[in-house]
Amino acid sequence: MRVTINQIKEMKQKGEKISCLTAYDYSTAKIVDEAGIPLILVGDSLGMVVLGYESTIPVTIEEMLHHTKAVVRGVKQAMVIGDMPFMTYHLSVEQALQNATRFIQEAGAQSVKLEGGVTVAEKVRRLVECGIPVMGHIGLTPQSIHQFGGFKIQGKTPEAAIRLLKDAQALEEAGAFSIVLETVPAPLGALITERIGIPTIGIGAGIGCDGQVQVINDILGSFADFVPKHAKQYAKLTDIVRNAVTEFHNEVTAGTFPTDKQSFSMDESILAKLKAK
Ligand code: KIV
Repeated sequence: MRVTINQIKEMKQKGEKISCLTAYDYSTAKIVDEAGIPLILVGDSLGMVVLGYESTIPVTIEEMLHHTKAVVRGVKQAMVIGDMPFMTYHLSVEQALQNATRFIQEAGAQSVKLEGGVTVAEKVRRLVECGIPVMGHIGLTPQSIHQFGGFKIQGKTPEAAIRLLKDAQALEEAGAFSIVLETVPAPLGALITERIGIPTIGIGAGIGCDGQVQVINDILGSFADFVPKHAKQYAKLTDIVRNAVTEFHNEVTAGTFPTDKQSFSMDESILAKLKAK
């Protein structure tokens, strides 16, 4: 049975913590799903960790749909959330509806995520009215880094903290089923979590959130460009992969790969006839 938004909301009521990871391809999504993670986000972070862009801003909807389809093919249980990229929901309610529909209808996601609070509440309301579950995202919203002046902690002044609380309340009121809180002080993360009825999923927002989301490359240690403060590396895949690749290279150049184990044999008589020609 596929995880539903009601189950996710109930987890908050029961005090059960919610885990969420990003995935961008079929094989990784399959592992994440089989591990029992209930929420899989096809984040536009793929622009940085998979496609090598400097930020998430250049990511297009076609790129997002391509990866969302691959993830959906690998997932049986988790809810797949498609992340709406920059300027694919800002222009109008109609634009938001059209593009969110593509994630659900073409790519097979069960919900979408979009960045912003009060300013996107009207769009969230319309998507929800039309049957598209929405995850909100406030705090350090990477699509606004130029406005923020970089990847900076948000909600540190009283005014900014109140704005974030109002954003969270507006998203809940508009019908979002959960909200990502990114890079805000831990006490603010806990306060927002207490003040709203839907789950908060934190990333750099402290232990007081209802759940936690991480970029999979960060927890696996497979993205070497930088390690965000909020990430814990549960593995160091970069080292493992580098060692394996170097060993392969050394064996090929030394003529020790492949061995008989990786090769296919042929009937001796056929070979003899070929050699006789
Ligand atoms: O794009 C992404 O992966 C995200 C998460 C970091 C929440 O938005």
